[in-house]
Order: sequence, then structure tokens, then C-alpha cells
Amino acid sequence: MDPGDKLLNMGVLIVATIVVAKLISLLITPRSGKRLPPVVKTWPLIGGLLRFVKGPVVMLREEYPKLGSVFTMKLVNKDITFFIGPEVSAHFFKAPESDLSQQEVYQFNVPTFGPGVVFDVDYSVRQEQFRFFTEALRVNKLKGYVDQMVAEAEEYFLRWGDSGEVDLKNELEHLIILTASRCLLGREVRDKLFDDVSALFHDLDSGMLPISVIFPYLPIPAHRRRDQARKKLAEIFASIISSRKSGGTTENDMLQCFIESRYKDGRPTTDSEVTGLLIAALFAGQHTSSITSTWTGAYLLCYKEYFAGALKEQKNLMQKHGNKVDHDILSEMDVLHRCIKEALRLHPPLIMLLRSSHSDFCVTTREGKEYDIPKGHIVATSPAFANRLPYIYKNPDSYDPDRFAPGRDEDKVAGAFSYISFGGGRHGCLGEPFAYLQIKAVWSHLLRNFELELVSPFPEIDWNAMVVGVKGKVMVRYKRRELSVN
Ligand code: HEM
Repeated sequence: MDPGDKLLNMGVLIVATIVVAKLISLLITPRSGKRLPPVVKTWPLIGGLLRFVKGPVVMLREEYPKLGSVFTMKLVNKDITFFIGPEVSAHFFKAPESDLSQQEVYQFNVPTFGPGVVFDVDYSVRQEQFRFFTEALRVNKLKGYVDQMVAEAEEYFLRWGDSGEVDLKNELEHLIILTASRCLLGREVRDKLFDDVSALFHDLDSGMLPISVIFPYLPIPAHRRRDQARKKLAEIFASIISSRKSGGTTENDMLQCFIESRYKDGRPTTDSEVTGLLIAALFAGQHTSSITSTWTGAYLLCYKEYFAGALKEQKNLMQKHGNKVDHDILSEMDVLHRCIKEALRLHPPLIMLLRSSHSDFCVTTREGKEYDIPKGHIVATSPAFANRLPYIYKNPDSYDPDRFAPGRDEDKVAGAFSYISFGGGRHGCLGEPFAYLQIKAVWSHLLRNFELELVSPFPEIDWNAMVVGVKGKVMVRYKRRELSVN
């Protein structure tokens, strides 16, 4: 073949290859021209559901290495797109409500919280109600709550003998609900109605099942008990509110803040709204804090060097302030803070955060890949998975509170949204300072007053719970002793 023909043949071959490649790409690219994220391979219809039920974090562990930081899974008739890592989740946390909203995906809370609050109202009203939370959790209020937290811890641990064995998980659950009742629900509930109100909250809690997320109004006994409990709680709070108003008494608690809250147009909150907001606060803050207290204890009791560091910090503070514990002294407990923060990095109780997408948008991964996320997708991110990304955290599965110490700052080096146990951005947790203070009040008391030893194996994670916590008992042997400052 002469060189001219050879060249022509080569040219034809190249053109033909380009045309075929283009045709193939046209066939496999969606007609809209959108650069959609890769899709998790599952059996049709219920495949996604089965994998999700098996455990969303297990699914993320399997798919992230294959598909990267943005991918979609079909869950029955819904597309859920996962964003993993700070680069892609930034939009999740910062997007305005008109783009990514919580209302639809957290609708299942409505029968529990009750009508007229949080996810039952428009965003503009919800924003105002979140302003009420912000005001109720300001530093000047927190200072008063801390005195109550400290008093509750002191009183609670007086019940323990000089030595013995307890299920720490059960003990801390109990103490946290007592403290939350005092600071949030108020003196009347804590002092006179604690057993009744706890039983009603228990019914509310038991009425929030995995099935309730999809069918919140399914006529099952657990939902019926939930609805009755919600009604009774409304009656109890209406009576407390009325007696506070008629007696002209005010208290330093969240209940009082909500009673005094006003909408922008001057309208006061109704009794039903006050009840709903208190229920929302307890749901947001109770299990999350008690679970975190338990993990903190389990890790401290297992890792002697961090236990020693936390103890030394208590001694230093006792040398400086004596036995006094208040808001400012708790705020000086940096070592304990890091121990709690690290337990919470490894075990965020809210393992999956969700939004509903209302407009098409584009995300860019850290490798520079761009994906178009269509309107209508549910968008999800997972604190439980993202908090352990190895390109952010060194030895991500190990307990190392010093990773947050000045100079290392692993949660800051990779930018905002690297540590998302409290969410972040537009809907970041409003109760974070409250939670830390509460957990520190408990643990500083335990460190100062008891020798402790973990006698059961290190606990496992209870992935089946709605708020993911500790599986089984956490048995601890204690011996009363006063911490010597020398
Ligand atoms: C260790 C304890 C806690 C953890 C791990 C935690 C975690 C979270 C997370 C992850 C979010 C964001 C949800 C989302 O983006 O969809 C959130 C929101 C929220 N949390 Fe917490 N929380 C804790 C304690 C508390 C406490 C004690 C309170 C109140 C007393 C509270 C009140 C709230 C409120 C009101 C929001 C909604 C904020 C908004 O949507 O603008 N949390 N929390």
C-alpha cells in the first residue's frame, strides 16, 4: 500500500473511531446532558431499601471507595444523593432553604412535636422559633442552667454508695433526663411531676420508630400512645404556664424563655407552641447528650493517658478555684472538652442528616469532578462516615483527643465541615454549648469524686437505634474518694 493510501486509511479509521465514540457517549449520557452522579448498583425496586435497612454506614463504607464522594442510591421511588466530605457537603450545610430544605425530610417529627411548631410551619415561622431557641441558650441563660446541672449531678451521685458496680449507660441516661427536665422543662416538672412527665416522654420516644419515618400516622399502638402522650403533655404545660402567669412567677429555664418569646409581629407564643418547642428541645438534646456522656466515659476509662490528662486538669482547676464549678470554670476544661469532642467524632448519635432538593445545582468534588444534582433528589450527608475520613483525620478510627489540640487542629486544617457531629452552617446545632456544659458537669463531678474502672468489654455501637448509641450495658466499678489536689 502506498504511503498516501496508508495515510488516508489511518485518517478514515480515526474519524470513524471518533464518530463511534461520540455515538456511544450520546447513547449512555442522559438526554438532558446532565452530569449525574454515579448510581449504587442494587436490585430493582427494593434493592436500595434492603441495603439501607442493613445499615446506611455499611453501605457508605462499601460504595465510597468505588463511587467517590458524590453518588446516588435509588430508595423505592426516591433518589438519595450522598455527599461525603467537606468539599461537597459545604453546599448541603450552607444552601438556602429555597434550594435544600429540611421540612419534607423531617416531617415525621410533626406528630411528636405537635402542631404549629418546627417542621409543621413555614420556614419563616420556623426561623423565628429557632430564634427563640437561640435566645434560650445564650450565655447569660446558660450560666444559670449550669448551676442547676452541677446541683443535679451532686444530688444524683449522693445516691451511690461508697463503692459498687453500676451500668454507667443507665445511670447517665437517668441523670441527663433529670438535668434536662430541670433546665428545659422547669422546676415544676422536675420537683413535682417528674415521674408522670418522664413516662409521657417515654411514650413519645417509643412512638418514633423506623417505620414512623415513612408512615408517621400509621394506626399502630405505638403511634396511638404517642398521640395520647402529646395531648397529656400539652395539658400539663398549659396548667404550669397558667399558674406561672397568674402567680407572676418567673424562672430561669427554657420554659420561661418560650413563654416570654414574641414573634416579629408581636404575637406571643401559644401554650401548644411552648409545649411543642420544649418537646423538640428534649428530643434534640436528651439522647444525644446521654449517649455522648457514656462514650466519653467508656473511652476515658479505657485510655489511661487521657484519663490522667483529664484528672490533672481537674486538679489544676481545683487548685485555682477550690471545689467551685460554674459556667466559666467548665469552660476552662479544655482537656475534658477534647475528650468529649473526640468521643463524639467517633460516635455521632445523628448518623445521617437529610435535605430535600428544590432546584438543580452543581457540586465539585475535591478531585475536580462536577456533578449536576437534580431537583427532587433527597440529599444526605453522614457525620458517622465523614468524621472518619482518612485524608482529614490521622488514624481516623483511633481515639486521640489531642488531634484537636492547638497546633494539630485536625478538624480545622481541612476547612469548615470536616467535623460534623453537630451539623454546621445554616442549621448547625443550637444546643452544642449546652450539651458540652452538661456533659462536663457530669464528668468533672465523677473525676473529682470517684475512682472508676470499666468492668465490661468496651461497648459496641447500637446501629439499630434512631439516635445511634451504645449497645448493651457499660458496667463500671466505682469507689468514692475525694480528688487530692497535691
Ligand atoms: C451531644 C449532643 C448533641 C448533638 C450530637 C446534636 C447534634 C445536632 C445535629 C447534627 C444537628 C443538625 C441537624 C441537621 O442539620 O439536619 C442539630 C440541630 C439542632 N440541635 Fe442539636 N445536638 C446535640 C444537643 C442539642 C441540645 C442539648 C439541644 C437543645 C437544648 C439541641 C438543639 C438543636 C436544635 C434546636 C437544632 C436545629 C437547628 C436548626 O435546624 O437550625 N441540640 N443538633
